[in-house]
Amino acid sequence: MSGLTVVVDYGAITRNTRILLERAGGAGLMAVVKADGYGHGLVETARAARAGGASWLGVAQPEEALALRKAGDTGRVLAWLYGPDLPAAAMIAADVDLSVSSLSTLKTVVAGAKEAGSPARIHVCVDTGLGREGATPDDLPALLDAVEWERAAGTIEAVGIWSHLAWADVPGHPTIDDQAEVFRFALELARERGLSFQVRHLANSAAALTRPDLRFDLVRPGIALYGLSPVGEADGGDFALTPAMSVTSVVALVKKVRAGHGVSYGHDYVTERDSCLGLVPVGYADGVFRSASGRAEVSIRGARYRIAGRVCMDQFVVDLGPSTSVAEGDVVTLIGPDGPTAREWADAAGTIDYEIVCRFGGLRPKVVAG
Ligand SMILES: Cc1ncc(COP(=O)(O)O)c(C=O)c1O
Repeated sequence: MSGLTVVVDYGAITRNTRILLERAGGAGLMAVVKADGYGHGLVETARAARAGGASWLGVAQPEEALALRKAGDTGRVLAWLYGPDLPAAAMIAADVDLSVSSLSTLKTVVAGAKEAGSPARIHVCVDTGLGREGATPDDLPALLDAVEWERAAGTIEAVGIWSHLAWADVPGHPTIDDQAEVFRFALELARERGLSFQVRHLANSAAALTRPDLRFDLVRPGIALYGLSPVGEADGGDFALTPAMSVTSVVALVKKVRAGHGVSYGHDYVTERDSCLGLVPVGYADGVFRSASGRAEVSIRGARYRIAGRVCMDQFVVDLGPSTSVAEGDVVTLIGPDGPTAREWADAAGTIDYEIVCRFGGLRPKVVAG
């Protein structure tokens, strides 16, 4: 049993979805709920986003799409990450849209459609410059030819065409316009073949909020749904989003030590004066980044304390000062409205807030706020 409690405010996810939809200027919204809803819980996050107006859900793994169906979601769902072992017929039978990045993925999907006895709904993925999923502009003509051929044969429905940006979190980065230009070129290649797609989508949270010209038919936000700003203060601040995740623990032990007392493995921290130490029973096995040792802060009774010394597997220590009112059983806020933000943890750990919430959320049970 972990000493960590993850509380999720699903009402905040609904409100954040509404804010994003209002700012989408008429485009629809695909809520990205992959990776267990960025650690916030797949099914609950999906429900909250639907309640806020998400007409689509986006996941990476096919299993996540099937889990959404099993939980009763009947709306449009796109899954974009799979290999030749894709259970294509099951996905098509579950009415899940599938991304297609190459002739070989198209082949996998078409075989599934034949087995399922109904056409696959596909979204052609274009590598406009991210260098990850998608067909490169060189490979795209042959893929679009094959898509048109399969569409005419009735094995697929050409539903979408999409891409993903590499530098959207740095508004003004030249690659954003470069990728947009390649995306428009891809749309033109499709048009030349008489292929018309129902939905074109490119914008993640950062682009959805900072580049109105790149919204196309659907925006595809992830991090902003969870209330975390995708760009820095200088580029628009928090957009009135509400962070959905809070992370707390409780003080397990308070004790007095003398000046010069080494704390935790390797004694990276040594008390400068007689001090009260507070023991917090969560560590890197619970998602507390070890790289945040000696850097991240927590909040107890409204005061901030820095982690003293190294984060261990299941615990860390804070120096509460020469005397303290902090008592065993007090709540320790690692992330929350009355404590540090996920971004502060990310800065302390040398990572991004996406990884912080994914790691804290993990697949552990969530407590619902309110
Ligand atoms: C393909 C794709 N689209 C959209 C998103 C959402 O991105 P963000 O969380 O930056 O809004 C992601 C997440 O990484 C993604 O992989």
